[in-house]
Amino acid sequence: MRGIGKSFGGVAVLADVELVVQPGEVMALLGSNGAGKSTLVKILTGVYTRDAGTVHVDGEAVVFPDPRAAVASGVRLLPQEISVMGDMTVAENISLADLPLKRGPGFPVVDDRTMRERSRALLDQLGFASIGVDTLVKRLSVAEQRIVEIARALAGKARVLVMDEPTAALTEQEAKLIFRIIHRLKEQQVAVVYISHYLNEVFEISDRIAVLRDGRNAGLYETRSASRGEVLAAMLGRVADDLYDIKGSGAVGDEVLTVADLSVPGKLDGVDLSVRSGEIVGVFGLIGSGIETLGRAVYGALGPATTGTVLVTGAAYRPESARVGKARGIGFVAADRKREGIIGDLTVRENMVAPFQSRYVRGLFVSKTAETEQARRWIDLLGIRTRGPEQVMRTLSGGNQQKVCVSRWLVDSVKLLILEEPTRGVDVGARHEIYLELRALADRGLAVLVLSSDVEEVAGIGDRAIVLDRGRIVGRFDRGTPPAALMAATTNDPAFNAA
Ligand SMILES: Nc1ncnc2c1ncn2[C@@H]1O[C@H](COP(=O)(O)OP(=O)(O)OP(=O)(O)O)[C@@H](O)[C@H]1O
Ligand SMILES: [Mg+2]
Repeated sequence: MRGIGKSFGGVAVLADVELVVQPGEVMALLGSNGAGKSTLVKILTGVYTRDAGTVHVDGEAVVFPDPRAAVASGVRLLPQEISVMGDMTVAENISLADLPLKRGPGFPVVDDRTMRERSRALLDQLGFASIGVDTLVKRLSVAEQRIVEIARALAGKARVLVMDEPTAALTEQEAKLIFRIIHRLKEQQVAVVYISHYLNEVFEISDRIAVLRDGRNAGLYETRSASRGEVLAAMLGRVADDLYDIKGSGAVGDEVLTVADLSVPGKLDGVDLSVRSGEIVGVFGLIGSGIETLGRAVYGALGPATTGTVLVTGAAYRPESARVGKARGIGFVAADRKREGIIGDLTVRENMVAPFQSRYVRGLFVSKTAETEQARRWIDLLGIRTRGPEQVMRTLSGGNQQKVCVSRWLVDSVKLLILEEPTRGVDVGARHEIYLELRALADRGLAVLVLSSDVEEVAGIGDRAIVLDRGRIVGRFDRGTPPAALMAATTNDPAFNAA
């Protein structure tokens, strides 16, 4: 790709960008949220058309009017947002792009057997014998849906495979499986473009690193001889802060959340924990450990299936519905932005004020002015990269959407803020800002409970760290405990070990 330019509504998002990838090479593409990574690869894969520049595949100039045309040339995208069809089976999803046909009564019909066998073989080859080909995809975990997507991308012939943050919803062990797949693709001389915010991954898997900043090339490195510092500096345009070096007041008040013997059948088993005002408590667990359930159970989103005692600021509370949770002063930032967080077609402002719209009523009506003022404050406070409060949410970069999700709970009535995977898909610079903000909120008296599958995050920001495994608490640690100790507390799942 050479001289690539792209604007949205008159705003330049990419200017004169070059990206050249060799066969059998893994090119990491790095950059802060909103730098233009997804836009660049969407141009490569026919999702967007370019305003300027040229694209060559195997020396041949190409123009892809749509993703199908790109797929036909062996250029495939694994998009940032999971895009599987929940109501179709695993086999159907994998075969979506080219269904095997057989002669039917007068017209061709889908060859169900071939489709299922082919899908089975692909999943087995990827090390996922446990995923059934007849299962409806909506019944799978996020991680499993990701694997189905990868299998789909590999079902056809790929010359160039683009992965846009493929591991954002996966644990470290699951990510390893993806790395294995990438090694195989390298052997087959596929060119891989790999977008990620995890520097560890990038240094492990890539041959070269291309950095974008503000829609322009900002650096190109051989991974072997590059240092993290220089790559980070290229991304940020300055020397990076130490991610977890954040000083708080250290003042801790009364217990805001007290949980005793909290259980959800099959998911959580007798969990006891507390969070005090001024404190950040981190809970680490792998996917399936119960971290996906704990926050919802406390917030009330799981309804009456939840048993046990929950006290919020000393008063007993039945976590029966999300509405009651909010009324009790609990804020909840869900990991799955798409399903539970944001509404893509609404504006940034509308998404920000959604949970507490009554705060903006002036007289008889909701005041748009008051909403806009608040929205501007939050945009400023969290450094959200947007053209303004009226930008449509869908068009924000992934990390900036995440910041909007956090901002909406930053109101006085919220005493306890529960965040699932608060920095998933968020770049290093913005992660630091979110951690700073969580600490500032705690210093203002908020109790903060962070549920995360990122062990470094939990070890880095928690005043205390709790480790969950198979629905039970298996370890409690003080601040300063190294991440490896937290990881060691989880008993490793045999499925991961086998892989
Ligand atoms: N369809 C669109 N309409 C308007 N603006 C858009 C659209 N798509 C992207 N943008 C803007 O282009 C810029 C680059 O976005 P892009 O999604 O490429 O960033 P990114 O580098 O992938 O970020 P992230 O790491 O957060 O995923 C952002 O400022 C975004 O708001
Ligand atoms: Mg992106």
